[in-house]
Amino acid sequence: MSSSAPRQSVTVTDNRTGKTIEVPIQNGTIKALDLRVLKTSPEDFGLMTYDPAFMNTASCKSRITFIDGDKGILNYRGYPIQELAEKTTYLETAYLVLNGELPTKQQQTDWVNDITYHTMVHENIKDLMTGFRYDAHPMGMLASTVAALSTFYPEAKAVHEPETRRQQIVRLIAKMPTIAAFAYRHSIGFPYAHPDNDLSYCGNFLQMMYRAAEPKYVPNPVLERALEVLFILHADHEQNCSTNAMRAIASSEVDPYCAAAGAISALYGPLHGGANEAVLRMLFEIGSKANIPAFIKSVKESGGETRLMGFGHRVYKNYDPRAKVIKGMAEKVFEVTGKNPLLDIALELERIALQDEYFLKRKLYPNVDFYSGLIYQAMKFPVDMFPVLFAIPRMSGWLAQWDEMIQDKEQKIARPRQVYLGASERHFVPFEKREVKAAPAEGVLTKV
Ligand code: ACO
Repeated sequence: MSSSAPRQSVTVTDNRTGKTIEVPIQNGTIKALDLRVLKTSPEDFGLMTYDPAFMNTASCKSRITFIDGDKGILNYRGYPIQELAEKTTYLETAYLVLNGELPTKQQQTDWVNDITYHTMVHENIKDLMTGFRYDAHPMGMLASTVAALSTFYPEAKAVHEPETRRQQIVRLIAKMPTIAAFAYRHSIGFPYAHPDNDLSYCGNFLQMMYRAAEPKYVPNPVLERALEVLFILHADHEQNCSTNAMRAIASSEVDPYCAAAGAISALYGPLHGGANEAVLRMLFEIGSKANIPAFIKSVKESGGETRLMGFGHRVYKNYDPRAKVIKGMAEKVFEVTGKNPLLDIALELERIALQDEYFLKRKLYPNVDFYSGLIYQAMKFPVDMFPVLFAIPRMSGWLAQWDEMIQDKEQKIARPRQVYLGASERHFVPFEKREVKAAPAEGVLTKV
């Protein structure tokens, strides 16, 4: 008996018409467009897939980041995150994420020089930032200022020019820490500290944040390395909400500054990069270990309304590998800064949650945001800055995904379909003839 390899396809029968089609499977996916031939009549638009929140839809092919959510694996360009966190610098990892290979010694030197010499921002950017209110959230300032960069570099519109793309990539990665630090200093009324080109990417960021009157700021090497590791862990995370925003916005071929401003805005939300800020606020609110059982109870009884922030992930159904690295690093940081008193609450919260049927059943484990905030806080970053600290390193991932998308011949402007459930066609009625409908249409302006 000869055994033949199974056909890489699925057979779909449309029970409305009896029509059967064979749909090829490639890379574990079928093309949604292949279903369009299933129609009930020639006028029928054809069968679509319905997938709110992209729960089971791959929106692109990518060679940048691999995640196995069940096993808790995260690799950039094939390299496990743990190895990169241990052995590389953030800029080396950013180079890898952007270019596909680790740099040679010479490439690394050139890359670091390139970034270092683009950290300054135009004086008008400083003026623009001065215009924000004293209590402006730094994430709002960051998003707006990055969007404003678009007006300083109009040549960035040439998104199909590889050299132009490279230039904007360097500028954006280089200027993110400068803008982020300026946003912080604006909030405390300090004069902006200019970049110091003698320092590393992270060392210089700490300098721009914290330098006071000293002639030369020397970053603490343990804290500088901790920030480096946190930045490596946050460099990319495949098609998350903000990366999807970056790709969707940039698919209109707008310049990368406008697209990145959109990605920063997406990251700001509490269900995404704003979660580290939310974790800290939650730990403050819990206040002591004694209050943890009552808090867990309120989470479970809220029907999803109150969440254990820093827990759960759309992709990870296991311990987030980034959270593991961060948890392991916390000790070294606390040796320098003194222990963050909220750590004990966090550890106890994790211990209780990981024994609780509610969290186990739903595969809710600590994610990257659960411990990062504790380290940031010990390093004296204000809570408002936490999402900003996420956005700085994620810029390399957004840009790598953007660069990949621009070169991908299969991509077009992102434009999903919808299932329309609204009113069928009707005609205009003047005010005097309008009646209050018994069941008013749903809408924010509708008062019942
Ligand atoms: N606390 C309590 N219950 C939770 C939590 C949580 N943190 N997360 C999910 N659940 C519950 C939901 O209520 C739901 O329960 P149900 O099945 O009884 O209705 C179930 O688990 C599934 O949750 P979904 O919201 O469907 O999961 P989804 O994949 O859409 O959400 C998300 C993922 C947004 C990360 C969610 O887990 C969450 O809100 N976590 C807290 C916020 C957070 O930490 N975000 C950071 C994510 S990492 C990052 O962006 C870098």
